[in-house]
Amino acid sequence: MENAVAVIGAGVMGHGIAQLFAQAGSAVRLHDAAERQLASGLSAMEESLALLVEEAVLTPQAAAAARARVRPTTSLDEALAGAGFVVEAIPELLASKLELFDRIEQVVGEDAIVGSNTSTIPISLLAQRARRPERMVIVHFFNPAQLVPLVEVVPHPRMPPAAVERVLEALRRIGKRPVRLRKEVPGFVANRLQAAVVREAFHLVEQGVASLEDIDTVMTEGPGFRWSFVGPVEAADLGGLDTWQRVLDNLAPELSRAERAPAAIRERVARGELGAKTGRGLFDHAASTLAERSRARDRFLVRLEKLKRR
Ligand SMILES: NC(=O)c1ccc[n+]([C@@H]2O[C@H](COP(=O)([O-])OP(=O)(O)OC[C@H]3O[C@@H](n4cnc5c(N)ncnc54)[C@H](O)[C@@H]3O)[C@@H](O)[C@H]2O)c1
Repeated sequence: MENAVAVIGAGVMGHGIAQLFAQAGSAVRLHDAAERQLASGLSAMEESLALLVEEAVLTPQAAAAARARVRPTTSLDEALAGAGFVVEAIPELLASKLELFDRIEQVVGEDAIVGSNTSTIPISLLAQRARRPERMVIVHFFNPAQLVPLVEVVPHPRMPPAAVERVLEALRRIGKRPVRLRKEVPGFVANRLQAAVVREAFHLVEQGVASLEDIDTVMTEGPGFRWSFVGPVEAADLGGLDTWQRVLDNLAPELSRAERAPAAIRERVARGELGAKTGRGLFDHAASTLAERSRARDRFLVRLEKLKRR
């Protein structure tokens, strides 16, 4: 199925997903309803391939071949024709996704797998109108999709085991480390873990314990530094479960139980201060910083992946 892949939506996530399949040798159709988005998705992909060449992950020939395997199109039907695997990455709006799935079902063949990169919508809602729900699956990539290894996989409960295995295999083939969730839950696993950390981070700032800058330093130089190699479960084992029992018994009652986003975020959003994309958010960002910072992040991620695989 992996030989013809259709990626629908060429925004932040779609171009990276298309790039992965193209690097692994698949013919990829990248579709976006907006011509401008398609063009900017392709140029982001070209920049990413150039970075991989600079970092000696790809030869210039392999990068050119990957780019040549991606056929951009604003025609959905053209993108879907003959596709064995479809991954949708359009905005997180259930109505739009349902409408898209209706159209996908009308065009793709019986054997095709239909994947969604949704961040929050459960598979049961995504498949609510599907004639063949058993071929639908959430494949939740992380931004930047072409560089972060994890993909969380939530198959429709009726997806046959062999089809689930095909999906996992396809993801492994493009170099990802898929984790299949055992049941449906809002936010999957990774975003729940991130949300727990972020909630506590803002709680500590509100309590005057640390500045915003300190929070980032504590994470990137402390737990985050270690977590890339030793996960929190193994860290508990290495640290000693007797210690961790005391730590959790003592700390659990102290932790934030906030049920909504913190005031520090709400107030800025209300003022239109959305972060790097508006030049100001929790920190101030110079005009060129977003692109520079993304490039620096991507370079670090490429090098981290190399280090981890060594
Ligand atoms: N951005 C992230 O960090 C991230 C991470 C994981 C998952 N996701 C999920 O991935 C999906 C896409 O997110 P994104 O950040 O790439 O969004 P985005 O807004 O950057 O890109 C979406 C693209 O879809 C196109 N589009 C909209 N409707 C369309 C349609 N009907 N047919 C074809 N193209 C259409 C838009 O023109 C746009 O280019 C969402 O479900 C999101 O929740 C995002």
